[in-house]
Amino acid sequence: MENNTDIKEEVRFPMIGNPAPPFKAVTTHGEVNFPKDYKGKWVILFSHPADFTPVCTTEFMTFASLHDEFLKLNCDLIGLSIDSVHAHLGWAHAIQGYEWNEIKNAEVKFPIIDDVKMDVAKKYGMIQGDSDTKTVRAVFFIDPEGKIRTMLYYPAALGRNFDEIKRILIGLQKADSDQVALPANWTPGKDVILPAPSKSEDIGKRIAEAKDSKDMTQLDWYLTFKQDKGNK
Ligand code: BEZ
Repeated sequence: MENNTDIKEEVRFPMIGNPAPPFKAVTTHGEVNFPKDYKGKWVILFSHPADFTPVCTTEFMTFASLHDEFLKLNCDLIGLSIDSVHAHLGWAHAIQGYEWNEIKNAEVKFPIIDDVKMDVAKKYGMIQGDSDTKTVRAVFFIDPEGKIRTMLYYPAALGRNFDEIKRILIGLQKADSDQVALPANWTPGKDVILPAPSKSEDIGKRIAEAKDSKDMTQLDWYLTFKQDKGNK
């Protein structure tokens, strides 16, 4: 087991709702000034433990195959590991030749950060557990204003669930655009939750509204579901 006592002292964890920690970094696409260069866009910033490793390869093939889908959702991708640009480029080139899970010719068109100095990894709490030289599988959802909206951390042995990653992005966008909340296991097209009344005079109105509406289902005055006609 590696000794990670020193690193643990330096690890900082970002928080949901706070501005994404800013950084300048060298990537496979040149220098990135984050989050400034991405203002107005959603970004999924993610780390992987190391280039040329098995689970990470399946994840990168999947990220590359979904990149256009994310771009259509106004969301770009940025990868990171404690590897050099040269390693990233070599790995991305190799990945293009692989075929797995109906993915082939997967071209990695998004930037991958060279974080050999671990500057970004430390700012984002990406170094955890037994290793002080590898990042965990972190995923940060950063909104067009540069705020952190969701964080996921997975261990090295478990590849990420990309249906969940897409669901989170679409769910955050839905919650923002329609000012609603989303129930357990929500997926696009399913009923959304209306914000609970916050004044006592609104409780009666909400109960009456739900009774009169074909689109609403109410479990109680504070829990009203509404059909999602927008179906984003
Ligand atoms: C992998 O991607 O397979 C992997 C990377 C680092 C540690 C263990 C597994």
